[in-house]
Amino acid sequence: MTAMNRLIAAYAIVLAAPCAQGADPRLGEALMQEAQCDSCHVERFGGDGSQIYLRADRRVGNPAQLATQVSVCNSQLNTGWFPEDEAHVAAFLNERYYKFK
Ligand code: HEC
Repeated sequence: MTAMNRLIAAYAIVLAAPCAQGADPRLGEALMQEAQCDSCHVERFGGDGSQIYLRADRRVGNPAQLATQVSVCNSQLNTGWFPEDEAHVAAFLNERYYKFK
């Protein structure tokens, strides 16, 4: 892939998630459980880790930031997720916690 194509692909992901057609919150939920995303969040925030998404000074303020943060955290885990998988996860987090329109 050329650098330009990569750039276009990256933009497409940011724009597409989490409202991408076909992004499936149920699939995202399963992917997050499988990857144990919340293990780290629990360490920091206790409980089930969900406070990380609900705290007053949370980082994510819009769908694009959500997509970016899912990517950043995902890259620490080496899950082998495809961009579509990140979109599923973002859709799940949006449905459950962020509720962006
Ligand atoms: C290595 C530890 C670690 C793992 C594993 C991890 N995260 Fe995170 N995540 C963090 C930390 C730390 C923050 C908070 C960053 C901050 O507040 O500066 C965070 C924040 C987030 C946020 C933003 C919360 C907010 O403030 O709105 C999202 C969304 C998120 N993670 C998703 C995921 C997903 C999805 C996965 C699984 C692919 C995952 N994380 C795995 C450490 C981790």
